[in-house]
Amino acid sequence: MLSNPGTPEADVPVRRWQDIPGWFTWRDAQEEAVAHFPAGSTFVEVGNYLGRSLCSLAEVVSGSGKTVTVLGVDTCRGSGPEGQRGVNAHGPAVDAGGGTFADTLHRNLISCGYADQVLLVVGDSESTARLFADGALTWVHIDARHDYDSVKADITAWQPKIAPGGWLSGDDYIPAAWPGVVAAVDELLPRARPWSNIQWRWVND
Ligand SMILES: C[S@@+](CC[C@H](N)C(=O)[O-])C[C@H]1O[C@@H](n2cnc3c(N)ncnc32)[C@H](O)[C@@H]1O
Repeated sequence: MLSNPGTPEADVPVRRWQDIPGWFTWRDAQEEAVAHFPAGSTFVEVGNYLGRSLCSLAEVVSGSGKTVTVLGVDTCRGSGPEGQRGVNAHGPAVDAGGGTFADTLHRNLISCGYADQVLLVVGDSESTARLFADGALTWVHIDARHDYDSVKADITAWQPKIAPGGWLSGDDYIPAAWPGVVAAVDELLPRARPWSNIQWRWVND
């Protein structure tokens, strides 16, 4: 069975998060979050693609023994062409699934053993944020579209949802490669700081 259709790793059977294609580099940030926040916390990852970072987070939570709610949010329709070269990185997986990779994402969660632990919302970032009361979430990590307008919209939608002491963070704080991410974060969250290797983080204190 092909586990990740439309990707170069299509013939790799998924058993662990490391088998899932993706761009995940912030395992140390996940470990810090899980060590820092108490049981009963709620973590949200916005932008899951095929579940590499989401399954890693579930593994870290599981290893901690803490009961933490983990929610993944993704349209499962990809980000479209992005970056200076306009690469449509998710396009092949979207096309292979007939317009969605939701089945692959869900199947990867099942294969890694986290389908009962992770809640998955197949939907838009801003619409999903509106489901939560202000201050309801412990940690929200944003890794959806990387252009200025999208990152600004994501931050605007999710920042009010962060509890006192909670974190809002995101991927690819890299001026040369993703100037829209850096511009949106600097403008909306002047107290945010670089975090992990190429992440950014705002602490609600
Ligand atoms: C960079 S990928 C996520 C990679 C993943 N975190 C990993 O490390 O493997 C970005 C994802 O954001 C999703 N996305 C783009 N715009 C979105 C939106 N407005 N709401 C929810 N998801 C979105 C895309 O479908 C894509 O799967």
